[in-house]
Formats: sequence, structure tokens, C-alpha cells
Amino acid sequence: MKRNMSKTTAAITAVGGYVPEYRLTNKELESIVDTTDEWIRTRTGIEERRILKEEGKASSDMAVPAIEEILRKKKIAASDIDCIICATVTPDMVFPATANIIADKIGATNAFGFDLSAACSGFLFALSTGAAFIESGRYTKVIVVGVDKMSSIIDYTDRNTCIIFGDGAGAVLLEPSTDGTGILDSILKSDGSGRNYLHMKAGGSLKPASVETVLAKEHYAYQEGKTVFKFAVVGMADVSAELLERNNLNSGDIAWLVPHQANLRIIDATAERIGLSRDKIMINIQKYGNTTAATLPLCLWDWEKQLKKGDNLVLAAFGGGFTWGATWVKWAYDSNA
Ligand SMILES: CC(C)(COP(=O)(O)OP(=O)(O)OC[C@H]1O[C@@H](n2cnc3c(N)ncnc32)[C@H](O)[C@@H]1OP(=O)(O)O)[C@@H](O)C(=O)NCCC(=O)NCCS
Repeated sequence: MKRNMSKTTAAITAVGGYVPEYRLTNKELESIVDTTDEWIRTRTGIEERRILKEEGKASSDMAVPAIEEILRKKKIAASDIDCIICATVTPDMVFPATANIIADKIGATNAFGFDLSAACSGFLFALSTGAAFIESGRYTKVIVVGVDKMSSIIDYTDRNTCIIFGDGAGAVLLEPSTDGTGILDSILKSDGSGRNYLHMKAGGSLKPASVETVLAKEHYAYQEGKTVFKFAVVGMADVSAELLERNNLNSGDIAWLVPHQANLRIIDATAERIGLSRDKIMINIQKYGNTTAATLPLCLWDWEKQLKKGDNLVLAAFGGGFTWGATWVKWAYDSNA
């Protein structure tokens, strides 16, 4: 797949984010499950994660402030948005789509929207999808939001999963660009045979909710951590290296690696493979844990002020499905300009 230099690309022109106030620390987890702060830090890099505690609040309630930040920054009205793509595995409801609920809550009356389910790779897949809408010339303002309220599907008696995940939302605005910046290339992959290692057993059409499924704790995220870890290390590193190679980029060309924040050891393995030092990697896993679809945009949100027009970013993710991928973004603006 060759890139056509003269075509319109989709540029990220604004970033917004939201994390809930409540901090679930490793210390607090020590009082909930048989674990230690030391184990969690050294095995994952996580120190705390944010949890949406308020009753009656859902994923859309985190996506809304993230998107509203973008509207404020760009001084645009919600009615200007053409499309909202919401990447999530924790939708407010099975249906309708959380994107529709978000559109209603922010007043995006001219937008259509849909949810995209690709677990931890959801934001990357949604970014490519949104970019295609812009590149085709059909739409000019697409919101891509990654949001997950992982605390709604985590078993807080299972130390294998409850130490990892947190809640949060991150969003970007995509607009057309003709100056060579934007989303320049993507390699996206999925392999459904990996579904056995990371999934939710019940609540879908295969096993609808019942008293039995609730008692068997089948509405929680199930993960075989060791296996997922092995696939993640290889998958994320391979696809990132492939992306660089086919675009004739070397590590010196890359300003930032923006990796999915699942485990610091997976991040380090990817960075090592493409020859990047720690100071070129966005790492905020210590503050938020794994927020699934929100990790990548939350990195962009935290680092926005340091990004400069023309910076080459490699976004990389791996997650349930299995799904994985890497995307080359040439940053489109100086944030503090
Ligand atoms: C989950 C994960 C952190 C576990 O780390 P690990 O190094 O693989 O740990 P293991 O499962 O091999 O367990 C090692 C030991 O620590 C123990 N352990 C597991 N969780 C623990 C915890 N929270 N606290 C203390 N000990 C724990 C295990 O019981 C095991 O003990 P044993 O050796 O006596 O049997 C790691 O596998 C991981 O990050 N996996 C991938 C996560 C991921 O990418 N997820 C999805 C992508 S979105």
C-alpha cells in the first residue's frame, strides 16, 4: 500500500481527555486482594488508577467532558461535528451505541455515530476508520473517542485483573490536511483465535445473562495474563517495526512512541525493538493503569503541550481479540502556539 503525497490526509487537530477523580492506589488494593505495592509496581509499572465511582455514571459521562474540551479549544459548536466514533468495550448499554448517547448529551445534532469494538486496539482502529471518512472527502469533522469504564467489568477479588485496569476517556478531532501532516499509514491486525485468552464469558448472544452467569462471575473480564503478555510483546513490537520499515523510517526519525499502556514491560519491549530510548516514549501507566480504549488518546492529552508540528509519532496497541496495530502520525500543530 503506497501513500499518495498529494492526497488529503486526516490530521489530529485537537485532543481532549477526562479521568475520574477517585484514585485507587496500590496501597488500597493491598487491603482488597492478596497483593503488594511492590509486586504491582515491578510487574506492571502501575501505581494508581482512576475509578468512576459515582452511581449512575457511565462511559459516556467520561467521553462527554473529553469531547467538550475539544469543542472549547477549537471554538466549534457540537452541531459542527459530522461523525462520532466511540471505541469502547464498556458501552453504557449493549445498545444503542454509546456514540449516539454522547451525541445527544453534547448536542451534536448533525452527527451520526457508532461504536467500535476492538478492545485495547479500539482507538487505533477507530482512528483509521475516522481518517478514511476524512480522506474520502465525505466529512470534515470527525470525533474519535476512546473510553472505558473498566471498573464496571472488573472482579475486585481477582488479583490477576483488578490491579491492571482503570477508567478514563480520551478524544481527538480529525480534520482534512493538505500540508503533509496527519495520519499517514496504519497496519491493523486481528486474530480471533486469541479470543479464548481475554474476553467476557457471558452477557452476549452466546451466553445471555442469567442467575447462573452472575453467580459464576462471568460478567467480568477474564484474562490469561501470561499468554496475553507473550502475544502482546511480539505483536506490538513486530507491527511497529513493520510500519517503520515500509515507510523507510528509522528510530532517529521518531519523536515519540505512543504505546498502549497495558504493562511497562510490554512498552519497553516495543521501544527496544524499534530502537527508542525511554525519553521518547509516552508513559503514564503509573497514573492511570490500563484504560483499554482510552490509553492512546490519554497519552496524547498528557503530552499535547510538548508536541510540535511535524513530529513523527508511532501509535501502537495490542488487546483482546486479539487485535493489534501501529499507526504513523505526523503531528499537525504546535499545541502551545
Ligand atoms: C497480568 C500480568 C501483570 C501478570 O504478570 P506476570 O508476570 O505474567 O505474572 P504471572 O501471572 O506469571 O504470576 C507470577 C506470580 O505472581 C502471582 N501474582 C499474580 N498476580 C499477582 C498480584 N496481583 N499480586 C501478587 N502476586 C501476583 C502469581 O500467582 C504467580 O505466583 P506463582 O509464581 O506462585 O504461581 C501480566 O501477565 C500482564 O501484564 N499480562 C498482559 C496484560 C495485557 O497486556 N493485557 C491486555 C492487553 S489489553
